Amino acid sequence: MKYSFDEKVDRIGSNCLKWDLINRTYNDSEIIPLWVADMDFKVPEEIGDAIRKRLEHPIFGYSLTPPSYYKAAINWFDKRFQWKVEKEWMKFAPGVVPGLKTIVAAYTKPGDEIIIQTPVYHPFYSIIKNNGCQVVENTLTCKDGRYEMDFDNLEKIITKKTKMIILCSPHNPVGRVWTVEELKMVGEICIKNNVLVVVDEIHADIVYKPNIHTVFASINEEFANNSIICTAPNKTFNIAGFKTANIIIKNEKLRNQYILQMEKDCIEGATTLGAVAQEAAYTSGEEWYQGLMEYLAGNIDFTLEFFDKRIPKIKIRKPEGTYLLWLDCSGLNMKPEELSNFFLKKCKVWLNDGSMFGHDGAMFQRMNIGTSRVVLQEALERIEREVNKL
Ligand SMILES: Cc1ncc(COP(=O)(O)O)c(C=O)c1O
Repeated sequence: MKYSFDEKVDRIGSNCLKWDLINRTYNDSEIIPLWVADMDFKVPEEIGDAIRKRLEHPIFGYSLTPPSYYKAAINWFDKRFQWKVEKEWMKFAPGVVPGLKTIVAAYTKPGDEIIIQTPVYHPFYSIIKNNGCQVVENTLTCKDGRYEMDFDNLEKIITKKTKMIILCSPHNPVGRVWTVEELKMVGEICIKNNVLVVVDEIHADIVYKPNIHTVFASINEEFANNSIICTAPNKTFNIAGFKTANIIIKNEKLRNQYILQMEKDCIEGATTLGAVAQEAAYTSGEEWYQGLMEYLAGNIDFTLEFFDKRIPKIKIRKPEGTYLLWLDCSGLNMKPEELSNFFLKKCKVWLNDGSMFGHDGAMFQRMNIGTSRVVLQEALERIEREVNKL
């Protein structure tokens, strides 16, 4: 194996949000950050090589996006998901979150209702509200730690004002990889009720066997024509800093509405280096990616076993996808507001408060296991020590 994910890479001093914000916020360099969703692994060498090659040219004016950029992504989607995409369907966004903002603005007007399935990635709430729309929650049901969509409730909450549902697939923070059957159920309800399906598939590549990610738009023509798929290499290859995402819209009428909104939002194409990074990732990143998946799966098994044997008061269901664990901390018998202090100040491990993802997440913390095993082990031992003192 050419890559060692075991190497502990020091990110401090690289203006890294995850590690450098610790000192700027808490002035405590002991804290281990396992919060924001990026990983502590070096990216594939081929990405660095491609960027270095581009740097040999000393001018960085406005760029065109080359055909090879599209080809690389189209090949990746086909190989990974058997999803056939045409170049014309691929539109740019400077990140999935900005893309979602443009999408909401393009297809809704203030006062419209947008459904999200909670607990869910927190910017979904703010994007909807900041566009003047109303958040309507279809709370996920939870059986033995496994979350499911509530289809009966979904049908009930749709009104004439409901214009859109935003799906998170795979789902951050609960780690579900939705099955084809589940996606079909939600897709059919939306077609029947004229609701546009926007699918954030940024975690699509981070899926553990035997689970399989199905691209919503690949299920059938009707779904392809009633959906917008948001993808990016950002999570997969740890290149979120390049701010490059792909918004894929098969339906020409919907695509033109997005293009119009892009103009209003002054969004053009990928940055010079963002385009280079994405193309290199999708062209040459396969071997690194396979190694990553093996390492992440090992981290998940390691962490789950640790909690099970040594910190059984905290319960976790094995995630089907994402490198994020959803920790049920109700067994600690703390008030929700005490949880974050406990992890941050006592354990000195920085997690995300579950309440960020919705009121039903109050007794949870989200843990990012995308780091070297030594860092993970140290964080887990700290949590164990403090839980034992309770
Ligand atoms: C579901 C989901 N969507 C989008 C993003 C952020 O995407 P981007 O950095 O491309 O805006 C994240 C990051 O954690 C995420 O988990």
